[in-house]
Amino acid sequence: MSSSEYDPRVTPWRIDDGEFYDLDDRRAQIEFLLRYAVLAPSGHNTQPWSFRINDEGVEVDADLQRRLSIVDPDDRELLMSIGAAITNLRVAGARFGYESTVLYQGDADPLALVALRETSKPDEALARLFPAIKTRHTNRHDFDGRALEPEAIGALCDFIDDHATTIHIVTAHEKTQVAGLIEEDDTLQMASGRFQMERADWVRPSDSDRPDGISGDALGIPDPVTPAAPWLLRRFDLGAIQSRHDRELAEHAPALLIVHADDDRVSLLRAGEILEELLLLLTKMSLQYSFLNQAIEVAVLRDQLQLIAGTLHPPQLLLRVGYGKPIERATPRRPLGAVVS
Ligand SMILES: Cc1cc2nc3c(=O)[nH]c(=O)nc-3n(C[C@H](O)[C@H](O)[C@H](O)COP(=O)(O)O)c2cc1C
Repeated sequence: MSSSEYDPRVTPWRIDDGEFYDLDDRRAQIEFLLRYAVLAPSGHNTQPWSFRINDEGVEVDADLQRRLSIVDPDDRELLMSIGAAITNLRVAGARFGYESTVLYQGDADPLALVALRETSKPDEALARLFPAIKTRHTNRHDFDGRALEPEAIGALCDFIDDHATTIHIVTAHEKTQVAGLIEEDDTLQMASGRFQMERADWVRPSDSDRPDGISGDALGIPDPVTPAAPWLLRRFDLGAIQSRHDRELAEHAPALLIVHADDDRVSLLRAGEILEELLLLLTKMSLQYSFLNQAIEVAVLRDQLQLIAGTLHPPQLLLRVGYGKPIERATPRRPLGAVVS
């Protein structure tokens, strides 16, 4: 395919699953699996990953050029984003008959090796998540206020039981206090020029052909205004509007979930893997979600959140979950050639 035909918001998401069966070379098969890995979510859609295929599987590493040094100075979101891509790789592997094992390196590079071995008995639980990879999208729009269906509550509770050391559900009692922290934090972040500048660097007009960053429409900015979105973010303090809105989103969310984990590399990669399993499960159940991480991105408020929610580990991400109109346009992705060697 010539680069002029590559539409970063369409081409990467349009994978013909059946093409896998035309590939008999192991390297080509693994490269095909990586097409699903790169559909993972990442902070500001930075896609901060790189992959190297070897005889054992895939070495996974960070692309440190894509760090968010203001909002994520300790690379916590960067590592969780890479963890999310590892899950997609493993889910796609399970779907196409590969067993996978993740071997982490505490402080050496690469971050991890995903060892892949052909098997006649792939992990069924992982394979079941496969259909959601191409339909998962972060949805920042208002939800419709419907409470979760009993079946969804059951599946969510089972997931939380299985991952109790990583996922916490915010109780009705804690919710108002958590929503208050989000509002406080939005005000702080939005008033900080540095946060705003960094965010503006990653916001794109909806018709941009850049292969990364968040498109204006994904942020709920009306199409005619999206070309000016980065400028608006740099120029104006939108804190008061945003903080009131986010507080309401949190208060009215049928469910709020906290991802918590220790701050070391391996714990954060693992947290990202579990996050993506959760997002794929939510997607399979036709649930929508978005992130309300503001209260975690400012240190003092993160400590308060941990006290309020009583999580075992420091909070890393906060998600709201509910029903709403599905997202129609995907966010862009870089071509595979830019991230695989
Ligand atoms: C670790 C992590 C942190 C994120 N933090 C935020 C956030 O604070 N606010 C937000 O609106 N979206 C957040 N996102 C969502 C990303 O912006 C989103 O995944 C990215 O733009 C790609 O879009 P998609 O998820 O629809 O594919 C986060 C995603 C990840 C994986």
